[in-house]
Amino acid sequence: MMSKETTALMDPETQSYRLPRIVVPEKYEITLEPDLVNFTFAGEETIHVIVSDSTDHILMNALELEIQEATISNSRNENFKADITLDTENERVKLSFGKSLSSGSWKLHLKFTGILNDKLHGFYRSTYKDAEGQTKVIATTQFEATDARRAFPCWDEPDFKAVYKVTLIVDETLTAISNAKIKKEIMIPERAKKQVLFHDTMKMSTYLVAFIVGEFEATPVIDADGTPVRVWAPPGKLHLAKFAEGIAQHSLTFFNSYYGLKYPGDKLELIAIPDFAFGAMENLGAVTFRETALLVDEKTASHAELERVADVVAHEIAHMWFGDLATMKWWNGIWLNEAFATFMEMLAVDSWKPEWKRWESFGVSRAQAFATDGLKSTRTIEFPVRRPEEAQGMFDILTYEKGASVLRMLEQFLGPEVFRRGISFYLAKHKYSNTETNDLWDAIEESSKQPVRDMMDSWIFQEGHPLVSVELDKSGKALTFKQQRFLYASADDSGRGKDTLFHVPIMVKVKSGKSVLSEKFLLTEETHTLNFEDKVQYVVVNEGGHGFYRVRYSPDLLRALTMKREETLNAIERFNLVNDTWAAVLAGLQPLSEYLEMIKSFEDETDKNVWTVIAGSLQYLDRVTCGSPALKDFTKSLCSPAFKRLGWELKDGEDNLKRQLRGLLALVLGTTGDDEKVQAEARELYAKYKADKASVGSDVVPALVTILAHTGAVERYQEFENDYKNASSPQEEDRFMYSLTAFQDKELLKQTLEKTLNGSFRTQNAPFVVRMVLQNSAARDVAWPFVKENWQRIIKTFPEVSLPRMSEGVTGLVSDELLKETRQFFKDNPIRQGKKLIEQNLEKQSVAVALKNREAKTLKTF
Ligand code: BES
Ligand code: ZN
Repeated sequence: MMSKETTALMDPETQSYRLPRIVVPEKYEITLEPDLVNFTFAGEETIHVIVSDSTDHILMNALELEIQEATISNSRNENFKADITLDTENERVKLSFGKSLSSGSWKLHLKFTGILNDKLHGFYRSTYKDAEGQTKVIATTQFEATDARRAFPCWDEPDFKAVYKVTLIVDETLTAISNAKIKKEIMIPERAKKQVLFHDTMKMSTYLVAFIVGEFEATPVIDADGTPVRVWAPPGKLHLAKFAEGIAQHSLTFFNSYYGLKYPGDKLELIAIPDFAFGAMENLGAVTFRETALLVDEKTASHAELERVADVVAHEIAHMWFGDLATMKWWNGIWLNEAFATFMEMLAVDSWKPEWKRWESFGVSRAQAFATDGLKSTRTIEFPVRRPEEAQGMFDILTYEKGASVLRMLEQFLGPEVFRRGISFYLAKHKYSNTETNDLWDAIEESSKQPVRDMMDSWIFQEGHPLVSVELDKSGKALTFKQQRFLYASADDSGRGKDTLFHVPIMVKVKSGKSVLSEKFLLTEETHTLNFEDKVQYVVVNEGGHGFYRVRYSPDLLRALTMKREETLNAIERFNLVNDTWAAVLAGLQPLSEYLEMIKSFEDETDKNVWTVIAGSLQYLDRVTCGSPALKDFTKSLCSPAFKRLGWELKDGEDNLKRQLRGLLALVLGTTGDDEKVQAEARELYAKYKADKASVGSDVVPALVTILAHTGAVERYQEFENDYKNASSPQEEDRFMYSLTAFQDKELLKQTLEKTLNGSFRTQNAPFVVRMVLQNSAARDVAWPFVKENWQRIIKTFPEVSLPRMSEGVTGLVSDELLKETRQFFKDNPIRQGKKLIEQNLEKQSVAVALKNREAKTLKTF
């Protein structure tokens, strides 16, 4: 297969934003002095460069910087001053020396200034109020994908790896953190400042460089398999760091052994930042986090909140090798980074807390990937990237969740140890350098001696995924498998990719005669038949549930399976069965009534993840019908028995999945089902909780808060708003903030929306608040008008990267008119980043509208 990277470089359109390779950096010596009062910074850098071909100019990246001076010199005493021309459109600067630079080593010296912006990218400011109510400022960085150029002029592409020697000049009372250990601090008493000099980093990409300056407190250093580790937080929050410290220590140790290579940094610091666009960022040795992803109160947090912290910490630490040590050549390969870190995050968390059954709940992420990948507007996992804003759009569900799913599929097919050896071999071979996707398959092939590349190419370079149908022939002894691309939109109106074939690793469990057999084979053609000696009693396709494909059983096979469900299917297989059937309904392949019949038979289901799919489909129908009474009745009769079995009270010896299930069922009954009894009990229980926080299980509390908001009026709104302001942990803060999106009173919802623009909510959260309100079916008349009317304010205020994620809210606007409107709106107001995501969300909206029209009758009666 032709390398996408080569094509991109040859493309004349690309050349204006890709840097030429005649001059290459080897080492940056950077000194920065942030001014936390005026929100500016001054910088100076000496870059050791190699000129490979004589040239009279240098092109490098710079954005929103003022460059005062640029000179270049070499050891032969040649010394030139440059004319500086900024090219804002292409985010770069041209340094013209007027003379030709001979090939060899040079030192480029630059002086520049910039602003500490409030857009959560580049070198930016984050603020918080201290215990006395004083506003404090932090200066911090977020460079991925292409924002190092906002902090210092550089070769801001991932394969210009270099060494960084960082110096920060800061107020003497402040903490300064960067990627490497501090080498030396020099006091500057006359300015009440200090100069903090850091050790050289390893050779790495610009997007991994980090500077963090502010008032911070740290946990005592602990040892993780030889590496010093600590957690930093703004003052007063360190008591929330213990949990993250635990998973950090475990992950680092786990990865040292899994990867078979020692952690490449000289220390590892995890830092909580009050304003942060993403969840976390894997800067080598100085990983930054949004507070909810790092700081947590183990005693009061719900399982989901704890799992989130464990996931994010493990994920970022996985990147220290996969991403930081071996890095993709260009952003088309970002999937490799992120899919891998997501996959490894599961492995590490699973090994830390096996009782969490992390791979089972991963089914929920896989289901999200399916939901996007079944659209016509999906994309290939590896996707061409040209402009910087296109790079940003790649951080999506397909990169993370689909990517991780296909890696899991491969791992299970090859066997975990064979797979691990391949990864270890790949890292050893490519450390400190850059790779393309093929390098990974080649390494796994070499170590496993299996045709990995062909198989994986069909998943990475083709859109979508297959639907595998299975049928039993008349003799009852032959099973025929048939693959066909799965699409929500009916195949005839798309016509596209119908004949796409995948290399599907199929694992099946078959009961033939008296024996139960497991078989595996690679389905590369359209069909394949397996023959058995005895009659087939039942077959489970996608045994173990790790395959990234949907399954459709012929009616007789489906009956045989569901009849003996508990005996034949494990939790994740039951999850897939429900999820695939629901997908068939959305695709119009199966009537809604059949799905409803099927889930009725799941009344006695006990698994939390299976219930998560069921609940998800009910919430979906709630948006489609705008909360129809028939749906409420259906929800009540389906979920009540299961909830009654659990009760509100925690039981001794109950595992955490049961506890989560209790919260989930209460939530669905109290909101989607509008079960008045559950709502009244929730109010009572919440009053008890307020008096004694230990009196209610922590997995039930989030449900209580949402139910109370759902049924609440202005007093409750004020109460929760207050609780938001006085929250005792980041999770509680989020919980009460998002509760303000769940009320049904339009005036209250308007207030919530206004808070996203008037500074009441941090801009890191504002887009997600808008998204939640858009998906609240009671908010239809206020949320979309708000977005339309305030669009200019929104794009000025919210972090640009989060706008596409906000657009996900449109999937809640299920009507023909709104569909037309949203389409027109995004046509008239295109977003620079994440165009694909907008397209996908609009298509999801249209899939929902199609369901509404097609199933009008069933939706009235249930
Ligand atoms: N490298 C990303 C952070 C990032 C995301 C940078 C998008 C630039 C654009 C980081 O490793 C990451 O993936 N963070 C996730 C959390 C993770 C546990 C899935 C995030 O921020 O959502
Ligand atoms: Zn990541």
